[in-house]
This record gives sequence, C-alpha cells and structure tokens, in this order.
Amino acid sequence: MITIALSKGRIFEETVPLLAAAGIVPSEDPERSRKLILSTNRADVRLVIVRASDVPTYVQHGAADLGVAGYDVLLEHGGAGLYQPLDLEIARCRLMVAVPRGFDYHDAVKQGARLRVATKYVESAREHFARKGVHVDLIKLYGSMELAPLVGLADAIVDLVSSGGTLAANDLVAVEHVLDVSSRLVVNQAALKLKCAGLQAILDAFAGARGPAA
Ligand code: PRP
Repeated sequence: MITIALSKGRIFEETVPLLAAAGIVPSEDPERSRKLILSTNRADVRLVIVRASDVPTYVQHGAADLGVAGYDVLLEHGGAGLYQPLDLEIARCRLMVAVPRGFDYHDAVKQGARLRVATKYVESAREHFARKGVHVDLIKLYGSMELAPLVGLADAIVDLVSSGGTLAANDLVAVEHVLDVSSRLVVNQAALKLKCAGLQAILDAFAGARGPAA
C-alpha cells in the first residue's frame, strides 16, 4: 500500500491533475467528505487528508510514504528525514512582510526601531529579519495574522500573499518580499527504498506532468 498525504484546498485541487497523470483518481472530494482516509481507483494507493503544516510530520514518521507540502511549511518543519525530489510548482504564492496602510516600515527600519511582528512562519521570518539587520520581536500565531496589527498586537506581519485580497480587505500593504513559495513533493527516505518501484513510478509521472516551467 502506498499512502499519500495531502491537505484540503489549493494543494489538493492542484495535485489532482498530477495524480491523474500517475493513473490515480481519488474516490471522493475531501471538501465534501469528512473522511480522513480516501481510497482511490487503485487498490494499492490511498490518500490521507491532514493539516498542511502536518504533511511533513506524517511523511517523516512514515505514516505516509509521500506528500505534497508548501515550501513555507517545509522551512518551518526543517525537513529532517524527508527526501524532496521535486518542486511541483503548484499553489504558488509569496511570503511577505505587511503593515497597516500609512505605517512607514522602511523609515522605521532606517530609524532602527524594534518591531513586533506576528507570524505563523517564525523560522523564515527570523532568518529574513536577521539577514536584513532588522530588530524584531516575533509573536507566534496560528492563523488570521492580518488581525494582529489592527488590534495592536503587532506592528507588522509576515504572511502568505496570493491574490492580495486578504491584505486589501484589512487595509494592510505588503512592504517586503521574504520568499517565493510553491508546493513540493516530499518522500519518506526509508519508503523510497522499500517501495522503490511503486513510488518511483508516481514520482516520474508527477515530474512529467508538472510542465516544462518546473
Ligand atoms: C492564507 C494567508 C492569507 C491568505 C492570502 O490564509 O495566510 O491569509 O491566504 O491569500 P490572498 O492573498 O489570496 O488573499 P489561508 O486561507 O491559507 O488560512 P490561514 O490563515 O489558516 O493560513
């Protein structure tokens, strides 16, 4: 049995065509089902539906043989025990620093101000601000980062931006690029040896289907 860990939403939707290229069709849509283990048209392949930030953990411990996880999530996890053979170039977005409209971030940085920054991505944020020489106190949040500067919890946030709609709706503006994010295939290293033929066929199909841009 080959177990693939995916998260609901964009990653699931954009992985479906890659699965199809490997001859794998999920039996159900996770948005409509509350099941966490989904069978597929192939008796030897199943999908497990987990939180996006938990995908690396399931694969690291071998509870899933492979998974699809955002680069943002992989950087926070650290990637131990994970083979990362492919950037799938799906679920693309950007990790950005954002502040309330009217707050002069660059001037505050120039003045050497110490900024309170709320984020789910503390490792990436720490590295970014250290590289830039910006003094920050990081505040770990688990979601709805955009709220933090609006209620005085933080001066700035580091968060994912895709369409920019969430920032605009909360009167925030992006002021600095941290990194480009897309989703990657991650594979359990022991499983790659034990289930070599089955996993390699899926890896090859994914590599062939992700397009010439990747
Ligand atoms: C992400 C991110 C932003 C939003 C950006 O949140 O944290 O809030 O999407 O997308 P946009 O630029 O297209 O508006 P998500 O919905 O994944 O939920 P989260 O708060 O749990 O991270």
